[in-house]
Amino acid sequence: MRATQIVLVLFWLLCIHSPTLFCANVEYDHRALVIDGKRRVLISGSIHYPRSTPEMWPDLIQKSKDGGLDVIETYVFWNLNEPVRGQYDFDGRKDLVKFVKTVAAAGLYVHLRIGPYVCAEWNYGGFPLWLHFIPGIKFRTDNEPFKAEMKRFTAKIVDMIKEENLYASQGGPVILSQIENEYGNIDSAYGAAGKSYIKWAATMATSLDTGVPWVMCQQADAPDPIINTCNGFYCDQFTPNSNTKPKMWTENWSGWFLPFGGAVPYRPVEDLAFAVARFFQRGGTFQNYYMYHGGTNFDRTSGGPFIATSYDYDAPIDEYGIIRQPKWGHLKEVHKAIKLCEEALIATDPTITSLGPNLEAAVYKTGSVCAAFLANVDTKSDVTVNFSGNSYHLPAWSVSILPDCKNVVLNTAKINSASAISSFTTESLKEDIGSSEASSTGWSWISEPVGISKADSFPQTGLLEQINTTADKSDYLWYSLSIDYKGDAGSQTVLHIESLGHALHAFINGKLAGSQTGNSGKYKFTVDIPVTLVAGKNTIDLLSLTVGLQNYGAFFDTWGAGITGPVILKGLANGNTLDLSYQKWTYQVGLKGEDLGLSSGSSGQWNSQSTFPKNQPLIWYKVIRFSFSCFTGYKGI
Ligand code: GAL
Repeated sequence: MRATQIVLVLFWLLCIHSPTLFCANVEYDHRALVIDGKRRVLISGSIHYPRSTPEMWPDLIQKSKDGGLDVIETYVFWNLNEPVRGQYDFDGRKDLVKFVKTVAAAGLYVHLRIGPYVCAEWNYGGFPLWLHFIPGIKFRTDNEPFKAEMKRFTAKIVDMIKEENLYASQGGPVILSQIENEYGNIDSAYGAAGKSYIKWAATMATSLDTGVPWVMCQQADAPDPIINTCNGFYCDQFTPNSNTKPKMWTENWSGWFLPFGGAVPYRPVEDLAFAVARFFQRGGTFQNYYMYHGGTNFDRTSGGPFIATSYDYDAPIDEYGIIRQPKWGHLKEVHKAIKLCEEALIATDPTITSLGPNLEAAVYKTGSVCAAFLANVDTKSDVTVNFSGNSYHLPAWSVSILPDCKNVVLNTAKINSASAISSFTTESLKEDIGSSEASSTGWSWISEPVGISKADSFPQTGLLEQINTTADKSDYLWYSLSIDYKGDAGSQTVLHIESLGHALHAFINGKLAGSQTGNSGKYKFTVDIPVTLVAGKNTIDLLSLTVGLQNYGAFFDTWGAGITGPVILKGLANGNTLDLSYQKWTYQVGLKGEDLGLSSGSSGQWNSQSTFPKNQPLIWYKVIRFSFSCFTGYKGI
């Protein structure tokens, strides 16, 4: 054994047996997190490991460090890491330990938000679908089957981190963990069982003995020793539930997520910087940007529903890993200015005084150390204020930072950092699709059959709820019915469909008759589709689609999806109606093309030599140069 190895082994042994000697002991008090006996001002940013590729991680983390971050925060994604009960998957983008080690290699800390409910615009809020099928289970409440699973997964993650010595108490980077997520926003719906659940969660987490503090966000009654923290666009008015806990901000929303059809979110950096400075002005010592790099919702991971695959979030590092200016640069300056105040910030509470209407000074003074923050919270008027015998110009909605109580090093409304604009050139996919020659554009295609085409279809009387039927193995569920129509050929009727969402295509005798979709504000819909029936046998094929499962709200797992009815043929001869809801329907989970692996672009049967098919209801398209494949109705993308 070489000398360096002996030193490392000794270090490790000492760390395990005497954590206070070499390993970071993480505690907290009223002012701050205390690492190795030192109160710290910490700037943190969220990067979720599965929302970028492992190849991107070192660069994203380095850019975070260069931007002035001390901590990287990530959720842990249960449904990704345990897709089948008892079968774990930590490969590639799912490699949590590798991600944590990459952060450690850059010399930053980690805040591990285990949840395991995470919200996060993630499918089903991070819960695996198999959880739903455990007999007697009720999510996020005082329910034994749920608590057993939550404890098992939480302990699994804690054990993995411990085995790799990644807690700060073992010499690793993890200084903080989170249990649950914003339960306080919805706990009233659960009554007394919600209260006892949160006490249980706190005790369970603490018993896992990580050696570092736990937090609960948006949980005013978080039991000791759990620190309750704030999430929001502004958290300067927040106070923790005990004077022994520091004021911490776990989610400062740097922008927002993008719903289908929504405007691309934008939060001006002046406002973000103002919110950060106000938080530190009013006693905060830990704040986290949610997100610092948002990334991408790969595969079918986005939940909401109706959330885009881009999770760019208008974050300081954009979806592709490129620094977003002036956001990144201005925040870097803010971080520097705040760090210049660290000695004063951690030593004492601020003395807050009014300098006039909407004007506030906060002074941290102890011994010879003094730092001050001057705020103008008026949204319109700039002012010049007098502070300690000097005058200072404060633009509207801004904070000036004075690390020596005299000289302004930064005003949040004044951007000095260089602004760079990155631009992308994209080829128009639409135009390619519009051209009729597949071969000349690189596009290829495969038709998807309308209606039942797979051997595993099954009959069932009545209309089935979709998620219970598909178990989210696919976004698609076919509802298929054959009726014998006694009326005249060419009869005009109306097909009335009620769905819990999220979208549907209706086909009569193999032809598209109509489509409907909910939206991010209202998933349910009712649609009346004019249809023409033939005399005798008619087939009705309804393709119901989910677009990411619900991720938020009390009892969100019970909301359901799909065509639960009624489904009625209206306007028949003599004003009659025919209720189809209780007929014997045939069901097919998923599409034939999914079974063939078309959604990942595989299979050799793609047509590329001929022209695009016309009036073909359902088509898979693929283009090689983007390694991109998609599925669409005949109206195109
Ligand atoms: C918060 C939640 C996060 C995320 C965010 C919006 O309330 O804790 O997980 O969903 O909203 O992006």
